[in-house]
Amino acid sequence: MSIQLFADRDPGNALIKLPTSARRTVRWLPRIGDKFPDFSLDTTQGALRFRDWALGSWTHLFSHPAALTPVCTTEIASLASHDETWKRLNVKHLGISASPIEDQRLWHEHVEDIFEVDIGFPIGHDPMLTLSQLFGMIHDEEATGHAIRKSFILTPELRIAVMMEYPVHIGRSTAELIRVIEALQLVDATGAATPADWMPGDVALVPDERSETEVLRQFGALSRRIISYLRVVDPGP
Ligand code: BEZ
Repeated sequence: MSIQLFADRDPGNALIKLPTSARRTVRWLPRIGDKFPDFSLDTTQGALRFRDWALGSWTHLFSHPAALTPVCTTEIASLASHDETWKRLNVKHLGISASPIEDQRLWHEHVEDIFEVDIGFPIGHDPMLTLSQLFGMIHDEEATGHAIRKSFILTPELRIAVMMEYPVHIGRSTAELIRVIEALQLVDATGAATPADWMPGDVALVPDERSETEVLRQFGALSRRIISYLRVVDPGP
C-alpha cells in the first residue's frame, strides 16, 4: 500500500509525490554561483572570521563527521600530505566539525605522528551544528548528531564553484579535489571548458559557438573542429 504523505501538482498538472523530509523549511539551499555567507567560529588555530580569512584564496570548506574516527583520519592525513600543491594552487582548507577542539587537537597529534604530516589548516568547532545545518551538511537519514562529508570549493571572491557530497563511510578523493581545482583555474584563466575525465595537461574544449578567429585570439591556438559544436583547443601550460 502506498501512503501519500505530501502531494502537489506542478504547472503541467502532473502529480508530484515528495517524501516527508521535503516538507521541512529550507532556509538556504546552497547553489553554484552563490556568494558564501560570512561566519565566525572557534578553530584548532584560534578564532576565525571566515570572510577575512578566505578572501583572495581558493577555499576548500569541508565538513568532517567526527574527530578520532577512521575515515576522517585518512582524509585529513591525505589533505595534509599535499601541502606543496595547495601552495601552488593558492588553496586554503577549513574543516567544520561537531567534535570539541580538545578532541581535534589530540587527534591531529595522532595523525601527524602516524602519517608524518603537518596539519597546517584549521578545523572549526560547530557545537550546535548551526553552521553545518545552514550549509546543508546535515543529512538526517545518513547520520544523526554529526555531518556527512560535504566539500565546497569557493572562488577567491567567495562564490560557490563546486559542491561535493559523500556518505559517512566513503572517504573523499584528494586527487579529485586537486583535479577539479585545476579545472576551475583553467576555465577561469582561459575561458575554455574541460571535457569528461579531463586531467591537467589535457586538451580543453571551446565552450560556445565563437568563430575560429575568436578562438585564435582567445586561446592563441587553432581549434580542431570535430563537429560544429565540438571543438578542441590546447590551452597551453
Ligand atoms: C569515520 O570517519 O570513519 C566515521 C565518522 C563518523 C562516524 C563513523 C565513522
